[in-house]
Parts: sequence; C-alpha cells; structure tokens
Amino acid sequence: MYESYWSLEEKPFENTPNPQFLYHSPQHEEGLSRLLYAVSEGKGAGLLTGVFGCGKTLLGRTLFQELDRDVYKTAFIANPFLSYTELLMHITYSLGARDLPQNKQDVLVNVVLERLGEILENNMRDGKKTVVVIDEAHVITDRKVWEELRLLLNFQIENRFLLTLLILGQPELKEIIESNKQFSQRLAVKFHLGPLTAGETEQYVLHRLRIAGAQKQIFTPGAIALIYKKTGGIPRRINHICDLALFAGFGKNVPLVTETIIDEVSSDVED
Ligand SMILES: Nc1ncnc2c1ncn2[C@@H]1O[C@H](COP(=O)(O)OP(=O)(O)OP(=O)(O)O)[C@@H](O)[C@H]1O
Ligand SMILES: [Mg+2]
Repeated sequence: MYESYWSLEEKPFENTPNPQFLYHSPQHEEGLSRLLYAVSEGKGAGLLTGVFGCGKTLLGRTLFQELDRDVYKTAFIANPFLSYTELLMHITYSLGARDLPQNKQDVLVNVVLERLGEILENNMRDGKKTVVVIDEAHVITDRKVWEELRLLLNFQIENRFLLTLLILGQPELKEIIESNKQFSQRLAVKFHLGPLTAGETEQYVLHRLRIAGAQKQIFTPGAIALIYKKTGGIPRRINHICDLALFAGFGKNVPLVTETIIDEVSSDVED
C-alpha cells in the first residue's frame, strides 16, 4: 500500500520469519553458527532460547534454508502442543513416513518409534544426516514428554547420534530442560538470544529497508533512536512500529519518518 510512496519494492517490516531479511547481528550470527555446528557435527541436541520476538524461529528457518538437501533430511515442528504420541507421529511423518497407523492404540508408540528408527538408519546408510527442530518447545510442560523426547537421542550407532534434535523456545525452556538432567547433559550447544542494542536496532532497520529496495533515507536518526526506546530492541516490536510509521507517514504525505510519527504510532504497539 505505502510501498510506492516510499519507493520500496516490498514491505520491509512484515512480521514473518523470512530468511531473506535476516540481519546478521553478532548474536544472531553466533546463534546460527552454533546451530550449524550441532547439525554438521552430528551432535545429539542443541538449545536456542530467547525472549519473545527476538528471532528464534527466523534462525531455525534460516538454518533449514542453508542445509544442503542432498545431505540433510529435516523436519520442522512449528507447533509442538501435542501429546507425546502425536509429536512422535508428527516428527516421523515429517521425515517421510507415509504408512503410519491412524488410530491411537497403546501399541502405536512402539510402531512409530520402530518406523522412525528405520528412517534414521536408512538416512545414515544413504550418507544423510537427520535434523529435527522443535520450535516453541516451551509449550511442552509435561515432564513425561521431555523424558520421552530424550529417548530419541538413544537412536545411535557406534556412538554416533542418528538425529540432531534442536529445541527452540522462550526463556522458561532453560529451566524445563535443566531440571531434566539426562536431557541437559546431552545438549552439545546452548545459546540465548536477547534484544538488539541501540546501534544494532539502527542497523536492523536500515538493513530491512535496504533488502526491501530502499534507495534513500526514510527514517530520521531521531526516529530510530526513539524506536529503540519504545521497543527495547525486540525485532518483532520494531517491525510493528516501523510498519505503522511507514503507513502513517504515507497518510500524512511527509518526506521522512520523524520522532513525532514514531510517538504517535507507538501507542498502538502492544508491550
Ligand atoms: N536478526 C533478524 N533479522 C531480521 N529480522 C529479524 C531478526 N530477528 C528477528 N527478526 C524478525 O522479527 C520477527 C520475530 O522473529 P521470530 O518470529 O523469529 O521471533 P521468535 O523469537 O521466534 O518469537 P517467539 O518467541 O514469539 O516465537 C520476525 O518477523 C523476524 O523476521
Ligand atoms: Mg518463534
């Protein structure tokens, strides 16, 4: 809507985890390289935590985009609010199983585990690595599910893990995992993402604008400084405020987004 007014090719601040827009802040870079290390070295498990809206899902998606499809077999579980059986079914299905039983009998878990084991062994035999990402894993609060997820790490041959399990979620996930010693002992990498600094917030805004095709200045430095103040450097909030500001600036027919506009739109952004 406002794209042509600001001479943009697309909307710069959409709240979707689109890897094309990734700004490599030092911590996003470090988080991504730890995840990449865990999968390329065939580690058992890795943990990425972070405050809401700081880029965990985006890093998970970016990682998947970077993995060579000839080498990696992947499953991305976006919503793990499931029973253990359903979660296991979802993972196994995402890794390619098409012949899973449909009904929920007691025997089912073993059948699915067996099928999963076959898939993992086949992948290994074909020289492929298997990676499972569980996003939003903080919603799994049932200890039993964690106990059972840990069992997936028992799929090993000659001390090599047959799958790498990457767990992504909000900060409370750290306590959930740490209270499960057997699980936490198997975490090869851990990383926590926090908000951006003031300087990074500026770079972030300019980066997203550039990717969207911006050719000239759109936000004044004062506006960007205020965006940091209002959002605490949380990317999802920055996106929201910037999107509203571009729309408001277009409506008012102004040449630049100033502090006044940021002030006006920020009351519409939730805390
Ligand atoms: N480094 C970054 N570069 C570009 N965009 C980013 C970056 N970090 C976060 N974002 C953007 O911020 C928004 C929120 O990111 P994301 O959904 O990945 O956060 P999250 O940590 O998974 O949040 P939640 O805890 O709610 O699941 C997305 O639109 C995402 O593209
Ligand atoms: Mg997320």
